[in-house]
Amino acid sequence: MSKTYKIAILPGDGTGPEVIREGIKVIETAAEKNDFKLDFTDYDLGGKRYLKTGEILPDSVIEEFKKFDAMYLGAIGHPDVKPGILEKGILLKLRFELDQYINLRPVKLYPNVETPLKDKKSEDIDMVIVRENTEGLYTGAGGFLKKDTLQEVAIQESINTRFGVERCIRYAFKLTQNRAKNNKLTLCGKTNVLTYASDLWQRTFNVVAKEYPQLTSDYVNVDAACMWFVKNPEWFDVIVTDNLFGDIITDLAAMIQGGMGVAAGGNINPEGVSMFEPMGGSAPKYTGLNIINPIATINAGAMMLEIIGESKAAKDIDNAVIEALESGKIKSMSAGKMGLSTTEVGDLIASLLH
Ligand code: IPM
Ligand code: MN
Repeated sequence: MSKTYKIAILPGDGTGPEVIREGIKVIETAAEKNDFKLDFTDYDLGGKRYLKTGEILPDSVIEEFKKFDAMYLGAIGHPDVKPGILEKGILLKLRFELDQYINLRPVKLYPNVETPLKDKKSEDIDMVIVRENTEGLYTGAGGFLKKDTLQEVAIQESINTRFGVERCIRYAFKLTQNRAKNNKLTLCGKTNVLTYASDLWQRTFNVVAKEYPQLTSDYVNVDAACMWFVKNPEWFDVIVTDNLFGDIITDLAAMIQGGMGVAAGGNINPEGVSMFEPMGGSAPKYTGLNIINPIATINAGAMMLEIIGESKAAKDIDNAVIEALESGKIKSMSAGKMGLSTTEVGDLIASLLH
């Protein structure tokens, strides 16, 4: 009897439902071909629901998510909702409550995808960023003093626990070993200024590195990392970093791999339920036009299958994406410039799975 995985689908706002539709199309085809089943349950979380009902993310829904094998998200964000409400109330709350302590962002330049970096090829841009996803400046620790006065003080604290840092670093070392590419893990921090937080990261990194003598462990300051991403991206294999640095450098990395149209991410709890999503947002101006690029969502779907244990299906999708790009039928990675509709890109990739 074939295995069935329960997947929670969160299409969300804006172009979210359009890209998720294509993602489902592709992962379902891959599942059929590889003889397993996907059982989808829809959740209408997002800005639309919030504006209609005032409800953001009920605790009971979080409990329900714990019973799934994985979660697949389109996009969250609505132009009529004040920034911060949905991000904190849905995205960050899910990461924290489900303890998705790794944010995994592979950065790979696919064939025929344009990079803004002159003279860089597919083999030069191929790294994985492991971002800590539950601590740092994202915990919301801090506060105001004398708010709205001229003496106002605003404090935003970066929380770094030995436990949280160590589990993230351990994940990154294991990943570097399994990936077996250049066998190099680079810690990205700011030890020259953040003499408490980055120091804890560095000391923990050094301790764990001793267990992996066969791997090269390296260090880079976050500002220098930005410089090298542009100048010598080929120097990197796997990078591990804290939550905010990871947020920033993964946007830079997404651009050098061809933009938000292709960049995928996973919010991973290796012991629990993980959530996969395209890195791009809800793109209100492209909504409903069937012109948004679904490849990032399709890549996120492949990542999801990999993590739930269906590596062969994940690999098949990756190959189909590469074949679709090699065919030259997709003219650009940008919304509205693909030469094909969102649906046609999904169809093309799904057809290459057969
Ligand atoms: C991301 C996003 C989120 C983050 C926002 C939407 C809260 O930028 O997933 O990188 O900062 O983590
Ligand atoms: Mn971000």
